[in-house]
Order: sequence, then structure tokens, then C-alpha cells
Amino acid sequence: MRIIRCENYKEASEKAAAVIASQVIQKPDCVLGLATGSTPLGTYANLAKWCDEGLVDFSKVMSFNLDEYMGLSPEHDQSYHYFMKHNLFDKINIDQSRTFVPDGLAEDPSSVGEAYDAHIASEGGIDLQLLGIGRNGHIGFNEPCDEFVAPTHLVTLKENTREANARFFTSIDEVPTQAITMGMKSIMQARKVLLMACGPDKMEILKAALEGPVTPQVPASILQLHKDLVVVYCERGQDEA
Ligand code: F6R
Repeated sequence: MRIIRCENYKEASEKAAAVIASQVIQKPDCVLGLATGSTPLGTYANLAKWCDEGLVDFSKVMSFNLDEYMGLSPEHDQSYHYFMKHNLFDKINIDQSRTFVPDGLAEDPSSVGEAYDAHIASEGGIDLQLLGIGRNGHIGFNEPCDEFVAPTHLVTLKENTREANARFFTSIDEVPTQAITMGMKSIMQARKVLLMACGPDKMEILKAALEGPVTPQVPASILQLHKDLVVVYCERGQDEA
């Protein structure tokens, strides 16, 4: 495990973007696993800038996102499809037909999960998986529970996750109650994992994840068992200099 402590969000976003850019430079046709949420916004802004400056070329990259809310169409402004398009894909030279996000409108999420994992495996697996961490320790939408769930699957979101994400919606009632998330298998099989945690509200759970027991009650703790984990964190929040 390599831990990079940063002074602030700006530095954390530069460090995380540098890890991703070096992956793409070393293997231009790599497979990236991507996350949404507020944490990676600065990282994505750096990647967009470096792409614009001709420093990183995403034209051969393929990507798979971690998760999507059930019931939201790709056009919904709180869907993770929309998030990725507007915060990254439209700003870099990636071929958008090679970017994949789980289908939040799937009628049969179990078959979607299986197909998503099979697709990832058929592309040789994920080279670099970017992760944020929820205040309850979730990664993707793998919520605290009694066992680690391996395949991409349907989850019922915990109330504290819906409350945390309500800031993006007009009211908590609009936050979907279910999501489809990549499971621990595809995450742990990624050749490199980059975990980001920024802000005072993430420090306690980050410590529990990295130093506490490996338990599905703290889903991110499974990352202690990953052979190539890079953690980029800062105690200061995203709006602090
Ligand atoms: C998003 C995801 C989630 C977030 C986590 C932290 O695709 O998988 O696990 O990374 O909820 O969210 P933020 O960054 O908004 O604090």
C-alpha cells in the first residue's frame, strides 16, 4: 500500500490525476475503472486540462464506471452517465462508444450485472480502478453488510448514503433507493487501485478502512488485501485552500 498525504484538495487532485495519466501514458489502450461523486471532480478537471494541452491521449482508452442509480436514464442530470459525460468524457478525446456505465434502466439487473462483469473480463480486466469512499465505508455502492458481494449487483442504498447524496437532488425523496454497482471481484481484480479521500468527514472511515479489521461492515477495508493500492488523501475539504 502506498499512501500519499496531501496538503489540500488541489494537491490531491493533481496527484491522483498524475497516477491516472501515467497509467494512460504507459499503456495507451488501458482499461480504466472510474468513479463519480464530488471527490474525483478535481482529478477529472486536471485530466481534461492535460488532454487539451496534448499531454495525455485517451483515444485508445476504454472505461467502465463503478455504478449507476436504478431508475435514472442516461439523460437525467443526476445519473452517473450524465455526470461522466459532462465532467470527463466530453472534455477528453476518449471514444465514447468505449465508455461503459451500468444500465440504470435495466429490467433485469441481475443479468446486467453478469454481462457487465463478463464484458470487463473479456477486455482483459481493469488496469486502474479509481475509487472514492463513502462516510459509511462504501466503495462503489457496496454498502456495509454481512458479506462482501463479488459480482456486479443490485443494492438497496443505506439511508445515510441517500442522505449524503441528497445534496445533488432537490430533496431526499428524489434520491433513488436502489443502484447497480460493480462488486468486489472486478474491483479487487483491477491491477492497480487508486483510492481518494478528501475532507475531515472522511478521515475516521479512511483510518478504519486502512488500519482496522477487514470486514464487510467497512467495505473499503477489503482494499488492505489488494497488492497495488495507492491512497491519495487530504484532511482539508474540497472548498478549503
Ligand atoms: C461513486 C461511488 C461512491 C463515491 C462515494 C464518495 O461512483 O462509487 O462510492 O465514491 O460515495 O462520494 P463523494 O466523492 O461524493 O464523497
